[in-house]
Amino acid sequence: VKEIAVAIDGPAAAGKSTVAKQVAKELGYTYIDTGAMYRSITFAALESKADLNNEEKLLDVLHQMDLEMNEKLQVFINGRDVTNEIRSEEVSRNVSKVASYASIRKEMVRRQQLMAKKRGVVMDGRDIGTHVIPDAEVKIFMIASADERAKRRHKENKEKGFPSDFNQLKKEIEERDRLDMEREVSPLKKGDDAIELDTTSLSIREVVEEIMQIIKRYK
Ligand code: C5P
Repeated sequence: VKEIAVAIDGPAAAGKSTVAKQVAKELGYTYIDTGAMYRSITFAALESKADLNNEEKLLDVLHQMDLEMNEKLQVFINGRDVTNEIRSEEVSRNVSKVASYASIRKEMVRRQQLMAKKRGVVMDGRDIGTHVIPDAEVKIFMIASADERAKRRHKENKEKGFPSDFNQLKKEIEERDRLDMEREVSPLKKGDDAIELDTTSLSIREVVEEIMQIIKRYK
């Protein structure tokens, strides 16, 4: 059977990673979380107290960073497990800024394209169908209302025992979307050839099944 590439894009907290993980599992494909890559460089930059307005400095941080993501979806920077750290509020608040720079995106996209070359991947992010894998066989654009997305993230936080403020979460999500949509380089945007999936009133299972149906048509 021919292996394909599945691109899943959409705004923050739309459930992309949860769904992409399950789709990859059902297909026996590799799941690649590109948001984790931008979060990792943001974490490393914050830790080294780099000036986030200094693109060149950030590129230095990226070049000095040995980033590893394994099949258990753990993330390591220079051998250190930062899986939880890259999800912190501070990283979430600053990641869109770091991800807005052309030179940073160019290097990230180069790495992502290497990973997608052999196909057999489900990749999620903001620009996968539009820039990273423009020739992906299946492109999904997942959306959900900001209210619903904040609700889901809030529930997730509480289940994990993390402190969580619904209104603040919603504001943070909306602000991150705004920055991601308004940036100059490969902004968050539904491509003309992507299938839009509004998950506001769907369960995870329903979304996964819908995507599996779409994939079956293209395989
Ligand atoms: O997917 P996640 O919400 O973890 O992504 C964090 C941030 O990384 C996004 O808000 C966006 O600024 C950036 N990002 C990006 N391009 C991608 C994936 C993530 O700019 N392909």
